Amino acid sequence: MIVFSGMRPSGQLHIGNYLGALKNWVELQKKHQCVFGVVDYHAITTPFNPKAIKKDSMALVLDYLAAGIDPKKSIIIVQSHIPEHTELAWILSTLAPLGELERMTQFKDKAKQNKENVNAGLFCYPVLMAADILLYKADLVPVGEDQAQHVELTRTLARKFNNKFGKTFPEPKAQLLKFGARIMSLTDPNQKMSKTGDESIALIDSPEKIREKIKKAVTDSGKEVKYDEKNKPAISNLLTIYHLFSDKAIADIEKKYQGKGYAEFKKDLTEVIIRGLKPFQERRKKLEKNPRLTEKILAEGQKKAQKIAQETIKEVKTKMGLI
Ligand code: TRP
Repeated sequence: MIVFSGMRPSGQLHIGNYLGALKNWVELQKKHQCVFGVVDYHAITTPFNPKAIKKDSMALVLDYLAAGIDPKKSIIIVQSHIPEHTELAWILSTLAPLGELERMTQFKDKAKQNKENVNAGLFCYPVLMAADILLYKADLVPVGEDQAQHVELTRTLARKFNNKFGKTFPEPKAQLLKFGARIMSLTDPNQKMSKTGDESIALIDSPEKIREKIKKAVTDSGKEVKYDEKNKPAISNLLTIYHLFSDKAIADIEKKYQGKGYAEFKKDLTEVIIRGLKPFQERRKKLEKNPRLTEKILAEGQKKAQKIAQETIKEVKTKMGLI
């Protein structure tokens, strides 16, 4: 099976990105050929800083590597370095029904958030995502729930292309993580953890910062450490984080803190997170000191990716009668 996934370079990653995505990617690469993209062309559909985006892309590559993506097994690419992504996106856009694009909830949300810049790129965002996936003929796409609709559109586009021009693409499936894919904000457990501020723990936060943020994290009424998403959303979120960093079962953690209250649980959770992030932080520091190595890894990834990408584009254009 071939796996494709990607993230936008838009600032620092947090533990939600790690526990909900990267940790799973590292597992997937043990069994499948994986391509992981830094999708900078997606990032420019909403306001961005031209002075920072290249740096952010490189930082994201470092994050992938530090999290354990192995460049010997997986291919890491920066989307804008491989023009075939946009080439295929143009072709797929001629198959994409306007009505379906209008129904995309992420488009509707982002259009609302960026009223003064509702651009065509934002509208076609899912088509570019479909191109990312189909260019490598991926079968499996690990994503959060919020991207499932885009993968569904990808399947539609693959099917349409195949019907019109002959079997070319597999219909890729979304792999939605059932548990822990949604780490919630530390200050509002009803919101997804987002990229900035006190509500999230960045992967590069120092132990002091982590201590501070967990101390400030909201809890629920009562004092029992119990998993109950409905009545104890904050504690359930903290339990999930504890569970995913320690690999201890939720029930065992509950037992451990029976009759002990939130303060002690939070104190231990802090240490679990600090310990859990340590290997990542150490690897990242080493990589930071050696930018040449990262560049070399990217160049090698690009070469491998481009070979696949060029073959797909050639096949697509031939089947369409363009060449
Ligand atoms: N749209 C995805 C997100 O916002 C990122 C992304 C772009 C992606 N292309 C992709 C994810 C292809 C999976 C596969 O999270």
